[in-house]
Amino acid sequence: MKGKKKMADSYRIAVNVEWTSKCNALCSMCPRDAIEHPQIMSDATWQQTLQRLSPQEVFRVVIAGYGEPTTHPQFFDFVEDARRHPVRFDMVSNGHLLDPDKLVHLDGAVGLLIVSFSSIDPDVYRRVHVKLDQQRVMENLKAAQRLLKRTKLGISLTPMPECLPSLAETIGWLKAQGIDALTMSPTLYNRGGNLKEHQLASDKLRQLIRQHGLHSQELDFIPSGREIFRQWCSNRYKCVPRNVDLFVSSAGEYLYCYNDVGHRHPIGHVGSESIREVLRRREGMAEIPALCDDCNMRNRYGAGELLKTGISFVRSRLRQTA
Ligand SMILES: C[S@@+](CC[C@H](N)C(=O)[O-])C[C@H]1O[C@@H](n2cnc3c(N)ncnc32)[C@H](O)[C@@H]1O
Ligand code: SF4
Repeated sequence: MKGKKKMADSYRIAVNVEWTSKCNALCSMCPRDAIEHPQIMSDATWQQTLQRLSPQEVFRVVIAGYGEPTTHPQFFDFVEDARRHPVRFDMVSNGHLLDPDKLVHLDGAVGLLIVSFSSIDPDVYRRVHVKLDQQRVMENLKAAQRLLKRTKLGISLTPMPECLPSLAETIGWLKAQGIDALTMSPTLYNRGGNLKEHQLASDKLRQLIRQHGLHSQELDFIPSGREIFRQWCSNRYKCVPRNVDLFVSSAGEYLYCYNDVGHRHPIGHVGSESIREVLRRREGMAEIPALCDDCNMRNRYGAGELLKTGISFVRSRLRQTA
């Protein structure tokens, strides 16, 4: 028992913090409509969240969630708080509001700024990134490349079937701007069954990721091989996507799983519990049928998938050290 507890206490996770579940877009792949009461995170909840984050437990905080962080009215103050905090912060944005003022302020406060981009083809972009202005996002990307000195700019390429025919051209444009940290998720998540109509085989996406020399986003949630092993041993339910990450919603609730888009399965609150306390509770929990039964991430990581992911992880670490 003592040994088991020690193992559970010695792995780190990623935390996904949702500054807001409101958004200025209506992207076709995003199942945000499942959120009944979109809201912004209050300053008090953000301060409590910051107090819960320590580098001993958390190797990376991604400010993303299911909304657009740049729309938060206290964007500048929150970024300042992140700058002063010892944990590493990254941010994911649709790029529409990333004007030079915001970019200069973000510089150095986040390690990696990831902008989601569907396609260089204006028709595809309009259909996927609904309500956003492609030209404006492209101008902001050019400005980011120019202005960011300490923050790395990355792109999250949308793994939607309709984006793939123009993928090579999209990559060509980004590289021509000097943007080379190009990432893609090998899974078009159905977010716990919320996106049934779009299923794209992971194998096809993995092959495209290899073919175009992209960075696979699943590797970003692996702190180290040893820690993934410890996560695996400590959790009763061996679901890797659930166990590598802890989601803090805009209401300050820890969610059972990142893929709970509807925010229907909270397992604690930043105001009353630490990350370790809530992880211990989750470690003992089984799957939640209403959420897990329809999830296309479930059983994603059987022995074969884990091995493939492990090989990619080692390859990417070798590339980084080369
Ligand atoms: C949910 S968004 C939130 C942050 C920000 N509003 C944005 O669009 O980048 C975070 C990331 O998830 C990606 N995403 C959204 N829906 C997805 C899906 N069904 N499958 C895979 N990735 C998805 C987006 O492309 C984006 O890179
Ligand atoms: S910008 Fe992000 S959060 Fe907003 S609809 Fe698109 S994917 Fe969803």
